Amino acid sequence: MRAVDIKNDVGDADALFINDDVPTPIAREGELLVRVRAFGLNRMDLMQREGRYMLPPQAPKTLGVEFSGTVESLGDGVTDFKEGDAVFGLAYGGAYAEFINVSAKMCIHKPDILSWETAAGIPETWITATQALWTVGGFKEGDRVLIHAGASGVGIAAMQLARAHGAAAVYTTTSSQEKINFCTENLGATAGFNYKTQDFAEEIMKATDGKGVDLIIDPVGQTHLQKDINCASRDGRIVILAMMSGAIAKEINIAPILFKRLRIEGTTLRSREVEYQRVLRDKVVEEALPGLTDGGFKVFIEKVFSWKDIRDAHKLMESNQTQGKIICLVD
Ligand SMILES: NC(=O)c1ccc[n+]([C@@H]2O[C@H](COP(=O)([O-])OP(=O)(O)OC[C@H]3O[C@@H](n4cnc5c(N)ncnc54)[C@H](OP(=O)(O)O)[C@@H]3O)[C@@H](O)[C@H]2O)c1
Repeated sequence: MRAVDIKNDVGDADALFINDDVPTPIAREGELLVRVRAFGLNRMDLMQREGRYMLPPQAPKTLGVEFSGTVESLGDGVTDFKEGDAVFGLAYGGAYAEFINVSAKMCIHKPDILSWETAAGIPETWITATQALWTVGGFKEGDRVLIHAGASGVGIAAMQLARAHGAAAVYTTTSSQEKINFCTENLGATAGFNYKTQDFAEEIMKATDGKGVDLIIDPVGQTHLQKDINCASRDGRIVILAMMSGAIAKEINIAPILFKRLRIEGTTLRSREVEYQRVLRDKVVEEALPGLTDGGFKVFIEKVFSWKDIRDAHKLMESNQTQGKIICLVD
């Protein structure tokens, strides 16, 4: 089969190419073999391409963790799907290809109303947002929430979910007024702050009459951590998803962690066992899929590429200009 490969195994976006001599995977017990119609890009794909991502042992060499497509064949023991079904799902890797073998526990029947492109852009970000909000963040109705990188794929999902499930206020940070407007006008954000020109912690303390926010979802890390600590409420939770600004945070004042009884917790999705992921899949089907099909929740797609233009797709993600998902069609 054909699959996206990396010249010399690691490199920049220009090292990506379509290799037409990759072994076609087979569906093992409990798995589906899916003919991929579309796949979504994620930041970890960039890190994996550069050799900077710690892969889970189940991950194949081929990039890509989310896809949509049709079931080509079934492994032993699969009962929920049949050949020809339209599906979308999350994988440990291998989605940048014509075929992928994936646990049936991580696949979802694709409603007709969702296009291949839209469906392929749902799994990683909506499952991550679900995990960050509920499983790790302990989100509950009435919480005030701060979601950094508001116009990111994860931010877009988390903001809509928090809003729809009764957050008292949803604040966000991003790098431009245009992105702030996008979050307030489309995602239900209460207010947004430009982390480049404003001290978001001070702004949030003003906006909440000094109470702060109950839950913070932070994929930024270094530059934001002290301010997160400063604007978290008593018993607040800070969920660290990534460290886009860097991993080393110096001279952190930990006193508020103690006095405000904060909990700071990191989490990753791809490293989790399939049963943990299956529970999250079911929660997304329950809490998000109805809204995704009736239009209550929106998947924002920045651009759809042919997978033959995968280099340009990676470069667009690297530009940090996007407001939503980058999708590739396997044509
Ligand atoms: N732990 C997990 O399980 C998990 C799962 C999925 C994703 N993630 C991580 O979550 C992050 C977001 O993923 P995504 O797919 O939603 O990303 P995305 O759609 O590509 O958006 C990323 C956005 O983050 C902002 N950003 C980039 N560098 C920044 C920096 N140094 N400081 C502040 N903001 C910065 C940029 O927007 P601005 O204009 O706002 O700067 C950029 O457009 C990634 O780091 C990803 O690896 C973690």
